Amino acid sequence: MKIITVASGKGGVGKTTLSANLSVALRRQGHKVLSVDLDPQNGLGLHFGLSTEHINGISRATLSSADWRDAIWQSEEGDMVLPYGLINDSDKAIFEMKLADDPDYLLTQLELLDLPEDSYVFLDTPPGASIYQQQAFSACHVVVLTLLADAASFGTANKYIKKIKMECYGRKNFMGHMNIVNQVDRNRQLNSDMTDLMRETLNVEYFNVIHQDQSIAEAVACGQAVLDYDAECIGTRDINNAVVNLKELMANGRV
Ligand SMILES: Nc1ncnc2c1ncn2[C@@H]1O[C@H](COP(=O)(O)OP(=O)(O)OP(=O)(O)O)[C@@H](O)[C@H]1O
Ligand SMILES: [Mg+2]
Repeated sequence: MKIITVASGKGGVGKTTLSANLSVALRRQGHKVLSVDLDPQNGLGLHFGLSTEHINGISRATLSSADWRDAIWQSEEGDMVLPYGLINDSDKAIFEMKLADDPDYLLTQLELLDLPEDSYVFLDTPPGASIYQQQAFSACHVVVLTLLADAASFGTANKYIKKIKMECYGRKNFMGHMNIVNQVDRNRQLNSDMTDLMRETLNVEYFNVIHQDQSIAEAVACGQAVLDYDAECIGTRDINNAVVNLKELMANGRV
């Protein structure tokens, strides 16, 4: 089982979109993939046709001491999703206290799922520092750092990479991180220049661009991943390229 955290210091950059679409890309290649929603917004399931009102998930399962396996939702195509689940604020606080008490809680639960050796787990995290991000960083083998091609993302990227280095690279089983710049629009000069600047100054080996593509937004509106929605669009091509790079990182290990 390889665990991949999709993270960012900022909100609304495309973490959930990438978590879902990278998961589906690997599933379409025949891999067993579990997508886990660590964000109380409970929005990852939208990309698979679930509602944000979907009740079952990791939060409720934990609070009722149920097996996380019972909360896994599976699509006809074989996508496996573990939603965050719908809970009220006081139950959420109890869940978060449980996570704070045991920094390895997530990893323990994922190991108990007994997934095949060659499976992948994607962890979608809320923006910025949180107990969920902390759990994800201590469980994962790879971090996919999601950025936008703007001055705010560029200005904070190195600080965030330092954080990944501090929190993840100390573990022997950590393989590395890759940068994905999302929503790139080459028709916008600043956006295009920022993308090039990021490519030059951030980790170049594992660096991918996902273009701004209306099909990506339309796909989630239809409860689908873009790869299932439009096989020919630029978003699908970019996601598939990112998967090639991600697999390379996992094959080669540390940068
Ligand atoms: N490459 C893209 N092209 C077009 N639209 C995109 C692209 N990536 C993401 N979006 C849209 O941008 C919005 C934000 O994406 P998403 O919810 O995945 O971000 P997020 O980082 O998970 O947000 P949050 O921090 O709230 O969890 C969504 O409406 C999504 O459809
Ligand atoms: Mg999100």
